[in-house]
Amino acid sequence: MQAKELIVAISGASGFSYALRLVECLLGAGVRVHLLVSDAAREVSRLEMDWPLPEGHEPLKQALVERLALSESHARNLCLYDKRDWTSPVASGSAPIDGMIICPCSTGTLAAVANGMSTNLIERAATVCLKEHRRMVIVPRETPVSAIQLEHMHKLAQLGVRVLPASPGFYHKPESVDDLIDFIVARILQQVDLPQDLIKPWGSQHS
Ligand SMILES: Cc1cc2nc3c(=O)[nH]c(=O)nc-3n(C[C@H](O)[C@H](O)[C@H](O)COP(=O)(O)O)c2cc1C
Repeated sequence: MQAKELIVAISGASGFSYALRLVECLLGAGVRVHLLVSDAAREVSRLEMDWPLPEGHEPLKQALVERLALSESHARNLCLYDKRDWTSPVASGSAPIDGMIICPCSTGTLAAVANGMSTNLIERAATVCLKEHRRMVIVPRETPVSAIQLEHMHKLAQLGVRVLPASPGFYHKPESVDDLIDFIVARILQQVDLPQDLIKPWGSQHS
């Protein structure tokens, strides 16, 4: 079976750690990851993780390779693009990409995607995924939400987008923040048809 190619977009909602863990797991599963990081996500990384990301896609890739201690083969599967690189594969429906995950998804990016905007590469890639009817998962992180935001989620859900709010459960008895992150990442992996062993499926611990 051919390996999957997925776009991962990190927007400026709280929860940069979800995205880091997601990228690590996707690469570990042999997926080719096309990674897009918004300006606001960089700000979140700086404030939330005390990790200011370097400018430019090559230095950012190097920083991620070091942070995630990626092997050479996993590093080869990590592709980054600048936010206005309209010539990149993610900007066109002709590139053989299987789908897109926006994690975390800010309400700003949610609104832009729900309204078909293309002002940056994240929005363009999402527009392409929608028009090509590709698998799309969004992980909104906001609370409480307004009727406008609910409307945007509803609109995307009607188009087949999997709306997976970053609201971890507690029934797996988390002992750490990492366990809560893994809960969400496990659910995302399931939505893109990848196996996961981060969280035991409900019921298996009772057998
Ligand atoms: C530390 C921090 C946390 C934020 N958390 C959220 C959030 O959880 N949800 C949200 O919708 N916006 C959040 N924002 C605001 C967004 O970053 C802002 O609306 C931005 O314009 C989103 O841009 P983007 O969608 O291009 O990434 C946060 C901003 C900062 C600096």
